[in-house]
Amino acid sequence: MTTKPFVLKWGIVGAGRISGFFVRDLILDPTKSGRDGDVVHAVTAVGSRSSQKAEEFIKDNCPQGGFAQQSGLLPVAPAAFGSYADVYNHPDVDIIYVGTTHPSHYEDCKNALEAGKHVLLEKPATLNKAEFKVLSELAQSKKLFLMEAVWTRFFPLTFALEKALFEDQAIGEIRRLVSDFSISFIDVVDDTHRMLNPSLGGGGLLDLGPYPLVWAMLVLYRHPKNNLNPPTNLVAAMTKFGETGIDLHTSWSMDFPNLGPGARANLSVSIGVNSPKDVVTRIQGTHGEILLPWATARPDKFIIRRSQPGRGAQDYTEEVHEFPIIGQGLHWEADAVARCIRDGKTESERMPHADTLLTMSIFDEIRRQGGYVYPEGLEKVTL
Ligand SMILES: NC(=O)c1ccc[n+]([C@@H]2O[C@H](COP(=O)([O-])OP(=O)(O)OC[C@H]3O[C@@H](n4cnc5c(N)ncnc54)[C@H](OP(=O)(O)O)[C@@H]3O)[C@@H](O)[C@H]2O)c1
Repeated sequence: MTTKPFVLKWGIVGAGRISGFFVRDLILDPTKSGRDGDVVHAVTAVGSRSSQKAEEFIKDNCPQGGFAQQSGLLPVAPAAFGSYADVYNHPDVDIIYVGTTHPSHYEDCKNALEAGKHVLLEKPATLNKAEFKVLSELAQSKKLFLMEAVWTRFFPLTFALEKALFEDQAIGEIRRLVSDFSISFIDVVDDTHRMLNPSLGGGGLLDLGPYPLVWAMLVLYRHPKNNLNPPTNLVAAMTKFGETGIDLHTSWSMDFPNLGPGARANLSVSIGVNSPKDVVTRIQGTHGEILLPWATARPDKFIIRRSQPGRGAQDYTEEVHEFPIIGQGLHWEADAVARCIRDGKTESERMPHADTLLTMSIFDEIRRQGGYVYPEGLEKVTL
């Protein structure tokens, strides 16, 4: 590498599970796993509601910070804080990673933007579309970068899949996509856990739903022939969990009438069963199908089965395309964010605000049809 890489300085809020995965990926060597090394990450501050938890988080996950600090590019140690506000106001922070529970996303993101920081906001971006609309307008008015952290969009696998479908026409005209993301949380956590607790936005839809949806968004909504037309005919059903009102099983279908004779997405999530490991996403076309194995959020291969029209199930050839993932795979998203900020962009073309607004409007409608009402006051903005 001849030119000096761009260093992005991250402040982390919420010292929980996904924040740990995220910072551990920021430590990875940015020249490995097909990465260009043109951007490098630093972790300069971590905020938690408890300063002791923030200190332990740094000790356990990123004692030196990110790769920029480990490699001597930025001689700044990560600072631990017992409040999120200290991270927003830290002079050595460019961007805030919001890794808190769903109902906190709106206020954490708003506070970060108001303090003049860029934001990478964990999924689901907010509890509803109205909340994200306020954040989007605030980020635009302050010329700050804001993106929902849909990391799956940034995997090399995802770009290769799009090439196979749209450029190579590997399975001909796409007719249907089926995707499921299910993890049996009810058998492993108690009712206070964020997945089961309505006051923490619990249930399958908001937590797992972004991942079956991302495949429909990439393959059908962003299909070049769809011209970014929103899906029609959204039909949803929810099975509730006990007395809490959160969703145990949720499934929904959506149509994309601009594609061929009409293409359909059949999507589902559950917190009462586990997805099968062999195939969680299936894209079916006139000349075959593409299968993606577990995990819906993080596949490391896809399988193309080519066949003649009408012969799909009986007679096909199979190709396996593998994309090994080093770490968790969150570094590709982090690199894309760093390039946007380096280049003065306020949105990612790969994950624009419009896609988050559409996602949230789909979730709003599924909750309306399924009768999932959040506890009073949980949503900070409503239409
Ligand atoms: N991209 C992905 O694949 C992925 C994977 C998992 C989760 N997520 C998303 O990331 C977010 C966090 O998930 P997680 O699994 O990391 O959850 P977690 O382990 O429970 O961590 C969430 C953190 O939120 C903070 N928090 C703020 N207000 C809270 C409250 N009232 N109750 C509990 N915690 C509160 C806590 O941090 P402090 O105690 O340090 O303040 C807590 O550690 C969720 O929105 C989830 O959808 C994304």
